[in-house]
Amino acid sequence: MSYTKNILLTGGAGFIGSHVVRRFLTRYPDYRIVNLDNLTYAGNLENLRDVEGLPNYVFQRGDILDAALLDDVFQSFQIDGVIHLAAESHVDRSIESPLDFIETNIVGTVTLLNAAKKAWKDALEGKRFYHISTDEVYGSLGETGFFTEETPYDPRSPYSASKASSDHLVRAYFHTYHLPVVVSNCSNNYGPYQFPEKLIPLMIHNIRQEKPLPVYGDGKYTRDWLWVEDHAAAIDLIFHQGKTGETYNIGGNNEWKNIDLVERLCDILDDLLHRPKGASRQLITFVKDRPGHDRRYAIDASKLKQELGWEPSVYAEEGLRLTAQWYLDNQEWLDHVTSGAYQQYYERQYDHGG
Ligand code: NAD
Ligand code: DAU
Repeated sequence: MSYTKNILLTGGAGFIGSHVVRRFLTRYPDYRIVNLDNLTYAGNLENLRDVEGLPNYVFQRGDILDAALLDDVFQSFQIDGVIHLAAESHVDRSIESPLDFIETNIVGTVTLLNAAKKAWKDALEGKRFYHISTDEVYGSLGETGFFTEETPYDPRSPYSASKASSDHLVRAYFHTYHLPVVVSNCSNNYGPYQFPEKLIPLMIHNIRQEKPLPVYGDGKYTRDWLWVEDHAAAIDLIFHQGKTGETYNIGGNNEWKNIDLVERLCDILDDLLHRPKGASRQLITFVKDRPGHDRRYAIDASKLKQELGWEPSVYAEEGLRLTAQWYLDNQEWLDHVTSGAYQQYYERQYDHGG
């Protein structure tokens, strides 16, 4: 079968990537989606079990740092679009181990840019390199104000510095080599399949197990939370209709102080687990702060709304409930993730003809 587009999606076994893969596979059966992922601790093929049998899906285990493999993938699948999500994504890990973030997020992105530049050297028409980034590149806000696409970069953690660097390199390939790029910077995502090192699934997991809920510092740090499927919808729009060379901010218009969010999750789970009102709040424990902790993020997504008509569709109360219920209903997924058992799934599924 010949496909109308052949898209290389990196990091598709991760949290956001798996939602984007699912959306593209099911909405665009005439596109072939090649998911390239080297399955780090955060990559989990169980996230894609429901769609992995679709005929327009290809999984390629591999590293974005492997230039020869990338050349081969571009050639073999006649790739004409890239959606680049593969990254080391957790701020606390970047504080412990910055070099991993430099390698994957910076060197890996340049390796991918080089592969696209090489494969598309004779014809840039109809090609697109879409780089997925974060609002953390803009630094930290005070009590008021929003990040716009014009806010100067001011990254403050090894993670955000590595993402900022990759954004600059993507734009440099646009200006220097005319590579047809587009970039988006998104706020905090939440929803099904998020690895339980991140705030919301970590808290849900601990509440369920009646373990302490570690809130960093004074708990008054603020994040703008976006339902992950709304991010996938924005990625779909920007991939198809975003202007080449442009940047789009994506946000939930949904700010929460961490402590308020954790308390709300406690109340929702008390309700869902039939515990007495207020029981889970007793588990909240203030712990040592994250070094260099950004105080507040908030996104102005008006450009995306005005130009492409995108708006979030799921708001906090509904999204938090849906998320809590999903984790309660998918205890097996969580058990596999927390025990590392999901890492054996690849071997069972792909190496032994399972
Ligand atoms: P994640 O950590 O859940 O998934 C990352 C995926 O990339 C994993 O499947 C992992 O195996 C893969 N990967 C890592 N290194 C790789 C390599 N060298 N080669 C191939 N694959 C590799 O991350 P996520 O939360 O889904 O984030 C995806 C992207 O979106 C990242 O670029 C992140 O910076 C960005 N982002 C995330 C958020 C958020 O709230 N999670 C918000 C804005 C932007
Ligand atoms: O803003 C977008 C970014 O959001 C993405 O680029 C990152 O990939 C993603 O990990 C996320 O970064 P944060 O650092 O904001 O997310 P995290 O879930 O780690 O933390 C959210 C807030 O909760 C932050 O203020 C730190 C705090 N926190 C986190 C954990 C894990 C706690 O108080 N306790 C915790 O145990």
